[in-house]
Order: sequence, then structure tokens, then C-alpha cells
Amino acid sequence: MTSSLVTASKIAYSTSDLIYVIELNSPKSSCSKSSSNLELTKLLSQSKKNIFNEIPELEILSSISDPFSKLHIQLSKGSLVSVIIPSNSAKHVLINSIPHLHKISNNKNNNIGNAVVIHVALDKNELNQLGDYTDIMTLRQTGFALLHSHGGQETLDMALIAHSIALKTGIPVIHFFDDDESKGKVKNIGNDDIKKFIKESDVKQYRNSILASNENKPTEVYFRSYNGIPSSDEEQQTADEETKDSTTAANNNNNNNNFFDITENIFENFKQLTNRSYKINEFFGDRKSESIIITLGSGAKILQNALEKTENTKISLLKIRLYRPWSDQHLLNVIPKSVKNVAVIEQVIPRTTKWSPLYLDVVSAFQNRNYWSGQSPFITCGQFGVLEEGSIDAEVSHLFENLNSDDPSLSFILGKELTKSQMKTNNGDVNDHDYIENSPVLEKPYLKMLNEVFGERLYIANSALKPNSEHFEVVKSTPEFGFGVLLAKLRERDQFADLVTRVVKDTSINISESLHTALSQWLLHKDDSILSKKFGNQITEILTKSPPTHSLIKEIFQLKNLFVKPSQWIIGSDAWAYDIGGSGVHHVISSGKDINMLIIDSQPYTTRIAADPEKRKKDIGLYAMNYGDAYVASVAIYSSYTQVLHSLLEAEKFKGPSIVLAYLPYHSEEDTTITVLKETKLAVDTGYWPLYRWNPQLEKEGLEPFLLDSERIKQELQNFLDRENHLTQLVRTRPEYSPLLTNSLESEIKIKQKSLAKSAYDKLLGGLTGPPLLILFGSDNGNAEGVARRLQKSATARGVNARCMAMDDFPIEDITLEKNLVLVCCTAGQGEFPQNAREFWKHISTNTDISFSESRYAVFGLGDSHYWPRAEDAIYYNKPGKDLDARLELLGGQRLIPLGLGDDQDADGYETGFHAWEPELWKALGVELLGTIVEEPKKTDDNMKEESNYLRGTIAEGLEDTSTGALAERDTKLTKFHGIYQQDDRDLRDERKAQGLEKAFQFMVRVRVPGGVSKPDQWLAMDEIADKYGNGSLKLTTRQAYQIHGVLKRNLKSTIRGINKCLLDTLAACGDVNRNVMCNPNPFISEVHAEVQDFARKISAHLSPRTTAYHEIWLEDKMISGQAVQDFEPLYGHTYLPRKFKIAIAIPPNNDVDVFAHDLGYIAISDKNGKLLGFNVSVGGGMGMTHNNKKTYPNLGQLIGFCKLDQAIDVGEKVMLVQRDFGDRSNRKHARLKYTIDDRDLDWFREEVESRLGFKLDSPKEYKFENNADRYGWTKGVDDKWHFCMYIENGRVIDLPGEPIKTGLKEIAKVHKGDFRLTPNQHLILGNIAEQDKAQINELLKKYKLDNLKFTGLRLNSMSCVALPTCGLAMAESERYLPTLVSKLEVVIEECGLREDAITIRMTGCPNGCARPYVAEIAFVGKAIGTYNLYLGGGFYGQRLNKLYKESLKEDEILKELKPILSRYAKERNEGERFGDFVIRMGYVKATKYGKDFHEL
Ligand SMILES: Cc1cc2nc3c(=O)[nH]c(=O)nc-3n(C[C@H](O)[C@H](O)[C@H](O)COP(=O)(O)O)c2cc1C
Ligand code: SF4
Repeated sequence: MTSSLVTASKIAYSTSDLIYVIELNSPKSSCSKSSSNLELTKLLSQSKKNIFNEIPELEILSSISDPFSKLHIQLSKGSLVSVIIPSNSAKHVLINSIPHLHKISNNKNNNIGNAVVIHVALDKNELNQLGDYTDIMTLRQTGFALLHSHGGQETLDMALIAHSIALKTGIPVIHFFDDDESKGKVKNIGNDDIKKFIKESDVKQYRNSILASNENKPTEVYFRSYNGIPSSDEEQQTADEETKDSTTAANNNNNNNNFFDITENIFENFKQLTNRSYKINEFFGDRKSESIIITLGSGAKILQNALEKTENTKISLLKIRLYRPWSDQHLLNVIPKSVKNVAVIEQVIPRTTKWSPLYLDVVSAFQNRNYWSGQSPFITCGQFGVLEEGSIDAEVSHLFENLNSDDPSLSFILGKELTKSQMKTNNGDVNDHDYIENSPVLEKPYLKMLNEVFGERLYIANSALKPNSEHFEVVKSTPEFGFGVLLAKLRERDQFADLVTRVVKDTSINISESLHTALSQWLLHKDDSILSKKFGNQITEILTKSPPTHSLIKEIFQLKNLFVKPSQWIIGSDAWAYDIGGSGVHHVISSGKDINMLIIDSQPYTTRIAADPEKRKKDIGLYAMNYGDAYVASVAIYSSYTQVLHSLLEAEKFKGPSIVLAYLPYHSEEDTTITVLKETKLAVDTGYWPLYRWNPQLEKEGLEPFLLDSERIKQELQNFLDRENHLTQLVRTRPEYSPLLTNSLESEIKIKQKSLAKSAYDKLLGGLTGPPLLILFGSDNGNAEGVARRLQKSATARGVNARCMAMDDFPIEDITLEKNLVLVCCTAGQGEFPQNAREFWKHISTNTDISFSESRYAVFGLGDSHYWPRAEDAIYYNKPGKDLDARLELLGGQRLIPLGLGDDQDADGYETGFHAWEPELWKALGVELLGTIVEEPKKTDDNMKEESNYLRGTIAEGLEDTSTGALAERDTKLTKFHGIYQQDDRDLRDERKAQGLEKAFQFMVRVRVPGGVSKPDQWLAMDEIADKYGNGSLKLTTRQAYQIHGVLKRNLKSTIRGINKCLLDTLAACGDVNRNVMCNPNPFISEVHAEVQDFARKISAHLSPRTTAYHEIWLEDKMISGQAVQDFEPLYGHTYLPRKFKIAIAIPPNNDVDVFAHDLGYIAISDKNGKLLGFNVSVGGGMGMTHNNKKTYPNLGQLIGFCKLDQAIDVGEKVMLVQRDFGDRSNRKHARLKYTIDDRDLDWFREEVESRLGFKLDSPKEYKFENNADRYGWTKGVDDKWHFCMYIENGRVIDLPGEPIKTGLKEIAKVHKGDFRLTPNQHLILGNIAEQDKAQINELLKKYKLDNLKFTGLRLNSMSCVALPTCGLAMAESERYLPTLVSKLEVVIEECGLREDAITIRMTGCPNGCARPYVAEIAFVGKAIGTYNLYLGGGFYGQRLNKLYKESLKEDEILKELKPILSRYAKERNEGERFGDFVIRMGYVKATKYGKDFHEL
């Protein structure tokens, strides 16, 4: 009698270069000797040769030495390898071999050999004499082929066939069989016959392909995705194709065959050689049968015998010989189509999942519509039980009866059920069946797996019934409880190790050398699961033999159960994902301890949305990965069983916290197999539940830490990976971006700093328990955000891992978990929290049961002590900062340093307070010493311009990116130079944020129109573009430009092209360049006007940027300049101007352009005959300022002289160049020409200009302005042409109910032969209408109500900027509100009889001054929603700045303030006295003489 193992070993000997035998290592003897070992040693001693005429190598490996680790290297050499696993070691090595098997089976993808066959003998259950295949089944997704044999002859045949399959298909094979003795005679196959079967040419080819590919062999092999159960033919085909490819690599003769063809071929060849026939799936019985038993294993023989005895033709049998790769097609092809019932019988102990593996495969196969078109049969699932001699036939017929009955039961046992104790005897590891049986249904399969993988080492801290815990009675399930228990457990073992150390070190204790060595070795390897056990066993053995006398050693002996490194687990549910902090998940992740957590998510895919409408459930995996040093795996037992095993092993091995997220969809106990499989498949296939493993250890070894085991992943995970990749890539390609390194430092210093930073960081974190620094900000306009981001940079430079985000972007429930928290918050409204910090404040101010006792915190507030000037409003100063600081203290937080306050009123604004506060923070965090680190220099706008390659940046790339409606932030600064502002609809901000959407990004496009003159076809084009790409309205701006709002990124190019097509452009409409040149458009003084218009066009052209980027990006679609042709900016250079530059030209007596409000103003001077002589030149005007920042102020230009017409362009150029060279490039708030001049003086400026001109300017000529308004209605010019100036409220061309302005103008444009002139006050002149056309135009004006000029003088002289909802800087409404306010004021105006009186009234949404408010007689400048500063006393014709009269007024206060002044004006004004002059005379405000005095009240 020969054992099957010996039979297989003989074939292995004949067909291999190298044979490994894995022997069981038991505590008693170092290695037992199996029958295979003995047989092979015998063959060797006889110098028997293999089929290659050589003596193969034999190596005996121990089951505890990680035996598979050697295989990989041997295979890469091209060796043909066999591994023999006797039944007693199989139990110990199979599951642990999974990672290695994966690696090997993936070799084919890397052109490394994998001609290996593993012959495994499996223990038989004494009670039914059938092998237990439970362990083998766990290898089903390793990529190995699984081939079964039973009994002497079959085992010999399959052993040989297995070697042929491995060689020819390139798929490694596991050949398994029951460990038994053959009863019948086995026909041997000699080497000569084997050589006919395994041909020399095949072997040669295999070896050559390996050796050739060895030259470009990759250094490391990664695991590929697991083969789940294919869901469709398509997938199966892909799998087949993969097989085919690899086969090709191994054997060129089989180019066109896939794995199954090759294997069928091998079976066929084998039949020809031996006359013994085998098949992939072997069918017995009647082809018309209605029931079929499908089975895999030695039990098939019993069934076959029983079947042969009956005459029942209704039942057939299918025996699976080749179990993997799995093919639905090959299975279903052999099953009669008449089948209605299927019984799957397996030789497994169903200890892990509810359904056994083969059953799941069969159920899934019948779902495959490509191969099974009829109704799915009823499928039952069973195991072999105890089969007593004589009862077999009865049992089988019972099974058949059940199958044929009307209501067959879903699961069954063939024979008598094995009792639990029988299972235990049979399988020593299943020692905890009780607790598994009694555990909640969801935990069961995973608990079983844990038990299976870790056996006696498993320690579950918080399961309801803990088998190996002292707290058996205590039912606790929270992770905190488990965490505490595990910590205690770790401590206990640490103390035990201390005890051992003492014994080893104490020379006075007399111990044997062998014990000393064993104890020392244990100390070295106590955290290694295998070696700790090995040396623990050695120690136990020694001490058992010679019992200790010394008390310490006695103690060690008593505590011997602590030798083996335990596998410590906490089990939890997805309910924890709703509160990562409260549930204790965070504690485990942040502990840094070697603790494993298994979290089971049972949310069925199909109910996921209904179950979590608010999406509060967190992704624990992402949370852990973001956190840092934690192992994370996401697994699903019904998708890839092997991946679960793999993950459990890795998690346990990882030295630190590990989280395994396990999916097990669960509706109810009644869930069918199909439901669970489908739910799992859906979840995995859609990426809802991706299978992946994240192993930080790999990263430390320079390998990719992320392994995706399924096809798709969800967006959040993708984002995380993108970010990680991006960071790694960035640092790899641009080392200067590495947070710890800066360009300017030498490498040695870099290294030093790195270690300094590291140790400081470690210190900061206090070992492993401390988390990183979290910086949260609340900011409306960017100051607080800027401070927060600077802190983050500085922290990073100090080696501190800092995150930074808006308060409301942080998951609020987790806030108390943060150990080091910095809050930076500005003040909005009246002491209110800024927009992005409100939810945060609401949460911490209203909840009383949250505790910050774990947190250290620091707060920096930004505010303005004068924003709300009344004494009683002092409480608003920096209120949010103060509130936060106090609240965190109240909630138990530990204040790191006292509250810091930044005040806009300080010398350097909020910077003053910040500079004092910041160093204290670093001190408190213990990283102040690293203050010497050179931080990356702050990127200025000039750097940005310089690096932009003449305004290109990455705009073109950004336009291609369809994933966002926005452009990169840096590019948004550049697009301004192209006339494009990125904005977002602020009306939608809150709602979109609530929905988790990005802002409603859109663009404002400004079209340059020098002097405001455009043609009817251009008007029509603008009208069309506004409809097609914009928000359907056109805005005529205060600087005579068109603006189109609401253009989406994808429409930008078309918009710009459309604009250019009608011969207008947007270049330099914004940005740090000369902007649109303004000019009086009133053509009634037309002779001078024509010349001035001409001049306006010329100077505009002269000062235009020369970059070709504009054409390239928007118009040509290709790089005109390329790298070869360099752009050149003769006037601007590559950094352009420090700030925007504005020019206006006025023609007295009308100052509609507000000539003094611009950087450069020209006042046309004509002689008595109306001939243009030249211009008075004014410099240094500008409106913008910041509320309460006295260093910023509006200014009026001052005259520096007179120049002739032909000198005027030169003068303009030189004025701009002086500003280019002397303007402040470090502070944008101080960069306009007005500050350049005020910082020196006007004489210096004039001289600087004159020296560049090479001539002196004449003294200014006399001129007289009378107003700064438009002249409405019909006027007749000197050339007998008519002009009609119409009133367009705030320049908004839009159709409103009853006011079809836009349509009307479109209709007019269709017939109008003259021009469209945009006025500086946002109105419109239809210019140059011939006498004969006037009537027609007039008719249209009437028809569309465009001729209505019957407004009050106040309304006709009103002007507002755009502000909300599109302007990002707006603090209050303007365009949408001024008309309403004017209506309310008109009541007073009417009452006082001031209807016809022109009073300039202007409003802006912020102090930037786009509607030139500071020269208006009445002005409102937005401070907060609904709140305005009121300014009075501007000059009627733009000659004087106004003055702040009252701060922060709401509408009722505005009306209350203005009413009495207006009525006094009506009564008490002098003859012809303007309102602006009157308020000064009456002492309401002082006159502002110079910009610098603007803030002096
Ligand atoms: C609309 C508005 C309202 C403000 N209200 C206050 C206030 O009530 N109290 C205060 O101290 N500062 C107030 N400030 C000043 C800001 O808090 C301060 O300028 C801060 O630097 C702005 O930071 P941010 O750019 O991050 O929004 C206000 C500022 C604005 C624009
Ligand atoms: S004044 Fe301010 S709010 Fe108004 S458009 Fe200009 S920047 Fe925007």
C-alpha cells in the first residue's frame, strides 16, 4: 500500500528541479519526517534521475519558518518546483501562505516563472473518512489552479497533469487529495512515458522565456486584483483572455488557446498516453435528469456508487475536478438543461460564512444568462456528515427525496450531523465554536475567520461573549471598553517581558545555558507571532523537564501563556461611523498601539441612501488614512474571501493600529444567498465598497502603500489618493516643495533641519499619543484665512503636521478629538461670526455636553476696534475671537497661550497683534527653536506675473479641466489682465455649500471700449453674447466698458471669440496695466470731441500690453510664440505695473469722466475758436480705500502742467513709467500712483516725468467745469447730426416687465446708422443720427419706453456699482438696492420741492469705489449687509472729495439723517448753491481738501 502523498511525491521527483517538503514543526521534535520526506530521501540516495536526466534538489522546510518565502526566488531562476505538504503541516501553513501564493500567481504578469505545483494531502475526518477541504477553499482566490484527485491512481495521474498544466498555461497549480492509502493497484508511469507527456521543447521554451525576461525584471511584484466571481460573460472573457495572454508567454505553441483549451488538451493527451480519461467537470447519470448533485472531493465516490445502484434517472451527479480557475461556461455546459433542482455538497466545515464556497460559485453561475437561459434551478447547500457503513444508500435517497419534494429544505447534512466536539477533534483550531455560534449573526463569518487565521493567539476584547477573556460574563461591546482591555493586556505582556529581562540580566540567578538562550531569543522576537511561539515553546519544554526553583522563573512559568504574541482585536459595527470621536474609534486610531479593529458594515447597498439622508456617516477608512500611521483594509467576505484573509494577516502584522472594514450586507435572517451576493457585488462593482488595502509600512519601504483589490473606487477615496499622489509627485519632481526643505539651504543643513524638525515634532506629539495641529479659520474676506495659512506653513516648516481649513469645513463631531487646536477668526457684521464659521460656533455654543478636556487650544481674533464707532458698540470688537476663547475654556480646553487680537486700527493693521502672538504659540508647542528655519519666501503678485510667461500661467490647461467650474487661484489673477474676473453667485453660496457643491463659479468679462464709442453691429454682437453665454443682461460700466456677467468656464473661449469677432477686445480691461481709457462721449462739441476721441484711441493702443498670450489662449488655440519666440513688453516688462492704472479725458465744461478720480487725467484745452490745443495733465487720482484704514484713502488728481496734443501720448507714457518704476510693489493696498506721489511729493513727480520727457511741461491753462453729469435727451451737434442720451438705471441693460430696455436697444441697433456711446455715468447715447432717421429712432425709443427722462434730478444723477451677487468684494448690496433707496428719498425730495435739482448720489458695495462715490455729494459705501457709511460734501463737478458724515447706518437711519438736511437745503441754500457745498457751509461735514485728510472728521 502506498500513500497518496508518496504517489504524488514520486511524480514531483520526476518532473522537478527542486522539491520542498514542508514538515510540521512541533514543540517536541524540531521536525517530524513525513512519508514523502522518507520516499524522496530514498530516491535521492539511489541517485534516481528526473526526466531531465538530473538528480533534483530536495529541501526540507519547517512549517514555522515561513516556508513559502523561498519559492519566489527559485521560480525567477526558471526552476521547475514542487512543494509537498503533508496533512499534518497543511493546517499550519496553508492560510499563512496566501500572500506568497498571490505573489507567485502574479508572476506571469511580470514574466517571471511560476511553474510550481503544490501537492497537498489533507487530513481525513475519522468519522466519515472524508478529507476536510476548508483550508484549501480559502486559497480559491489566490490565482492558483485548484485540481482535485482521489485515491492512488487518480492522485498519480493528477499529479502529472498538474505539472503539465503549470508548465503549459503559466498558471501555478495546487493539487489536493485526501491523505489516505491506496487500496487498488496503481499503474506507475515511467520517466520515458512522462517525457512523451511533458516534452523537452516545452520545458526549454519555458526556461528561455524566464531567462530572457529576467533581464528587465521588475524589482518588486505587486499583487493584482482578486478574481471575484465574474458577473457576466464579458468579465469571464476578460479573465479568459488574461489566462490566454499568460499562456502565450509560457508557451508559444498554444498561442490561440486559452487556459481551458490547453487543459482539455492536456487531458486528451493524457488519455492517449494512458487510456485514462479525465475532464474539467465530470458528469454521471442521465442527460435528462431533473436534479443534480454537484460536489467536489472524495465524497463524490460515495455518491457515485449510490447513484449507480439506484435506477433513478431523475438524478445526476457532477464532480468538479478543476475547481479554479472557475468557469460558468464549463460548469453549465455539462449540466442538463432539464435540471430544476441542484444540491451542492461540500467537504468543508462551514465555519466562516453562512454559505460554503462552492455553493456560492454555483449560485452565481446560474445567474449568468449567457450560459443558462432557463429558469434558475432551486439550489440547496449541504455538507457531508457522519456516514455510517450501511446507511449511505439510505442517506443518499433521502437527499434525492428532499431534492424532488415540493418544498425542499435549503440546507442539509448528508448523514448524521457532526457534533461540535467532533468538529473540535477534527479541527483543533475551531476551539471557540460556542462563542461564535452565540455571537450576533453579522459578526459570525468574520469572527470565524479571525479564529481560523489566528487560532489560539486570537484575543477579542469586546465581543459579547469572549472565549478567551477573563470578562466572560461581562457583556460589553464599546470600542472604548475593548481599547481599555487591550491596553491592559499590552501592559501585562510588557511587564512579563520586564520579568524575563530581569532574569536574563541577573547573573546571580542560576539558569542553564539553553534556558538563557531561549529566554534571550524570546525577548528578541516577542513581537513576532511565529518566533515568540517557537521560543516560548522551547522555554516551556525546558521548564517542564526541569521545574524551576527560583521564584522569578517560577513566575515566568506560571505566566507561560503570555509567551505567544496575541492577536488583539476589537470588533465593532458601522454604527461607530456616525460618531468616530464618541465611539472610541478615534482613540484606537490615534493611540499608535498595536491594536486591530474589525468594523462590520451591514448597510445593504440598495438601502444606503434612505438610511443616511444627511450623510453623517463617516468613512472610517479615509479618516484613518488621513490620520496617518494606521493600516486600513476594506474587505467583503462575499466578494473576495482571500482578500479578507490577506487583510487580516496584514493587519495583524502591522505594528500599529489597524482597521479592517468588513462588508456584510444584511436585511434580515431571511436573506437569501442571491440577495447577499447581489448586494455585495453591487457595492463592490460600483465602487461604493471598494476593496483595498493601505499599508503605511510599504510606504516606509519605498513601495506604493495603496493596493486596490477591486475595480472601482468611490470619489472621496480617489480624491484622497490623488492628493497623496500629488504630494508625492510634487515633492519628487520639485524637491523645493517638500515642506521641510527650502531651496536656499545646503543639503547638509537640510538633513539637520529635518532631524531637528522630526525630534521637535516627536516631542510635540509626546511619543505616539499626540495628534497633529489643526488650524481652523473663520474668514469673510481672506485676512483670517491668510493668517491661518501662514501658520500652517510655518508649522510645517517646523516639522509639525498641520492641517488648515475653514471651521465649517471640519467635521464638527470630531472637533473634541483634536489635541492641538488653533482658531483664527475675523469679525463680521456687528460682532458676528464670518460666514464659514457660523455652524461651528452654533455647535460649540449651544451644546453643553461636549468636552475639550483633551484639547490644548489657542485663538487669534481679527477685528477692527473702530468698525462700529459708537461707544456702546465696543462690545462688537473682535467678539468672535473673544467668544471662542472663553467658550473653549468653559468646555474644559487647556489654553496654550492668551487670546491674540489683531486690530485693523493698529499701525500694521492686524499684523501688529499677530507678530506679537505667533512666537508665543510656537513656544507653547515646543517648536520655537525651529524658528530659524528659512520659510519659503512669500509669493508676491510680482512673482506671479514674472512666472506667468507674459500672462499665460496655466490658463489654457485650466480651461480644459472639466472637473471644476473654476480656474486655479493663481490663474484667476492672470485672467484679470485678459479682462476676465472669476466670481461666484453669492446668492447661491449657502445653498450650494449645504449640498456639498462647489461655489457657482462664473466669470465676468469686461470689454474695452476706448472713449465708450461702439457701432450698432458691435452692440448687436454684445447683446447676442450676453444672451448666449452670459446672464442675459449687459452692464454698461462706470468706466465706459461693457460687462457680461455669469459666463461659465466652458463658454469663456466662445465669449471672447465672439467679442473679438466684432472687433472689440477684453485685453487689459482689468489687471495691473492701463485700463480702458475714458473720454467724454458727448458729441455735441464735436470738433474737439472728434480729436479727443481720436487721441483716446491712440493712447489706449499705445499703452496696450504686447503679449501674444491673449491671442494664443482665446483665439488661436495654439502656441503662436512657442518657446522660441519670446514675448516682449517694451513698456511693462515682465512684472507689468504695481497696480491698475486708469486714464480719463475730460472736455470742459463737462467733467462726466470725473477726471480727477483717475491716476492720469487729461483736460482738453481749446482756443477760442474751439480748436484743441492740448491738455492740462492731472496725476494721482484714485478712489479705492479700506474702511478705517487711514493709510488708505481716496484721492483727487493734481495738475502738473499742460502739454500739447502731439506731446500728450509721450506724457502719458512717462507718467505711467514713473509709476512702474517707483510704485510700491510690496503692498498692493499702497501701490496706486496716488501713494507714490504722496510718499514723495508732486514736484518730485513732475521733475521725474519731465526728465524722462526731456522737456518741461507748461503751466496749466485755465478751464472751467460745471458738472459731472450726462446731458440727457436730444441734442444737435455742430455737424447737424442728432444725439439722444437716455437714462439707463445703473447701466443695467435688461428686459424687465414693462421695461423692455434690452429688446428696444436691439431693435434700434438693427436700424441705427450712427453709434452707441457709453457714458461715464453708465448711460447710453445714440449718436450721429441723421435728420431723416431721427423720427424712426424716436418712434422706437417711444415704443420701448427708452425716451422716458421724467425722473428726479436725484435719480438722474445716481450711480451704483455692481456689488452683489457677483462681485466677490461686496459687503453690501448696491446696484440692486440704490434704486429703492432713491425712491424713498424721492418722497422727501418731492416734499421739499427739489424734484428738478441735480444732486449726485452714488453707492458702492465696498470701499473700493468703483462708482466713484467719494466725489459724490451724497455717497453710501457698504459696510455690512444692509449697513452703509454715509458720506456728504463731494463737489458737484467732481472737484472735491466728500467726507464721512455718519458711520454704519441702516435704511431707516439713512432716511432719518438725510431728510432734515435735504429739507434745510431746500429752504436755506444760497442762490445756485450745490448740495455738496451747502452741507459744508452748514457744518454737517468739513470740506476734504486733500486725500490724506479724507479720514479727518
Ligand atoms: C462687513 C464687516 C463687518 C465687520 N464687523 C466687525 C465687527 O463687528 N467687529 C470687529 O472687531 N471687526 C469687524 N470687522 C473688521 C474685520 O473683522 C477685519 O477687517 C478682519 O481683518 C477681516 O478679516 P477677513 O478678511 O478674514 O474677513 C468687520 C469687517 C467687515 C468687512
Ligand atoms: S465698489 Fe466694491 S462692491 Fe462695488 S463693484 Fe467695486 S469692488 Fe465690487
